[in-house]
Amino acid sequence: MNFEKKIVVTGGAGFIGSHVVRRFVTSYPDYQVINLDALTYAGNLENLKDVEQGANYTFVKADITDWDAVRNVFETYRPDAVIHLAAESHVDRSIANPTDFVLTNVLGTVNLLNAFKTIWKDDLAAHRFYHVSTDEVYGALGASGMFTETTPYDPHSPYSASKASSDHFVRAYADTYGMNTVISNCSNNYGSHHFPEKLIPLAIHNIKNNKPIPVYGKGENIRDWLWVEDHARAIDLIFHQAKAGQTYNIGGHNEWKNIDLIRLLCSIMDRKLGRPAGTSEQLITFVKDRAGHDWRYAIDASKLKAELGWVPSVTFEEGLEQTVDWYLQHEDWLHNVTSGHYQDYYANQYQNR
Ligand code: NAD
Ligand code: TYD
Repeated sequence: MNFEKKIVVTGGAGFIGSHVVRRFVTSYPDYQVINLDALTYAGNLENLKDVEQGANYTFVKADITDWDAVRNVFETYRPDAVIHLAAESHVDRSIANPTDFVLTNVLGTVNLLNAFKTIWKDDLAAHRFYHVSTDEVYGALGASGMFTETTPYDPHSPYSASKASSDHFVRAYADTYGMNTVISNCSNNYGSHHFPEKLIPLAIHNIKNNKPIPVYGKGENIRDWLWVEDHARAIDLIFHQAKAGQTYNIGGHNEWKNIDLIRLLCSIMDRKLGRPAGTSEQLITFVKDRAGHDWRYAIDASKLKAELGWVPSVTFEEGLEQTVDWYLQHEDWLHNVTSGHYQDYYANQYQNR
């Protein structure tokens, strides 16, 4: 079959990647979407069951830290563009094991840049490399202010340091080799298919199972939450419409203190599970704070709105209701991803808190 465009999406079996793959496979039947993923603990092909039969979808298992494997995929498929989401993405794991983050997030990104440069060496400007990054590269905010695209980088965790480094490499390849790059830095996402090591799915899972909800410190840290489908829609827009070399911040103007967010979740869960109001809140358990815990993130997404017309499509309350419904309706998914290694991770992560 002849496709108009061939796009490698890395990390397509993960949380955000699976939403991006689904969106591109269903919205663009003329594009071939090649999902390149190593299927780490966070990657799950079950996330893409509904699109895996699509004629324009291809899965390739490869590890981006493996240069030969990456080069082989790029020489085989000669993708016209890359949307790069594969990463080690969990701050707590980066504190326990920083080197994995250097390998995947830094070396893996450089391998992809090199492979793309190798196949398009004479025509780099016409081929887009889209790097998906995080607001955490900007560091932490005090009580006021927001991150803009010109906020200086100031990462604090091994995760954010590795993402900052990969952003720098992407910009360096644009400046040095004339690569057609774009970067977006997004705030915390929530939604379906989110691995339950992260706050929202972990809390839903524990509330459902009457287990303690671990809240770090006093629960006063603030995150700016965005529905994952709105992130995928922003990526689609930026991929198609941004000028080469641009950076966009993506966020929902939706700041929540962790403890307030957990209380809201508890009240939604009480209602959905038919428990008396206030029942789930009793599960809240304050535990030892995360080392180097960034206090507040907040994104100024006005550039994306002004230039590309993007605004979030749902309120937090609507998105959270839908998210809770999805987890309650997909007990099998939750069961599958929380068995095996997850049990060991959970015991290890929370035993001393
Ligand atoms: P995730 O951990 O759910 O998924 C990561 C995916 O990458 C998995 O499918 C995994 O198998 C794959 N992967 C990991 N290491 C790999 C390797 N060496 N080779 C090939 N594939 C590998 O992550 P996510 O939350 O979906 O995040 C996706 C991207 O978005 C990341 O780059 C992350 O930094 C960025 N981001 C995430 C958030 C968020 O709130 N989750 C916010 C902003 C930006
Ligand atoms: P997380 O979902 O890990 O995302 P990030 O660290 O990338 O922002 O955590 C979101 C917030 O919730 C963060 O302030 C840490 C806090 N948190 C808890 O209080 N308890 C938990 O068990 C987890 C995983 C996170």
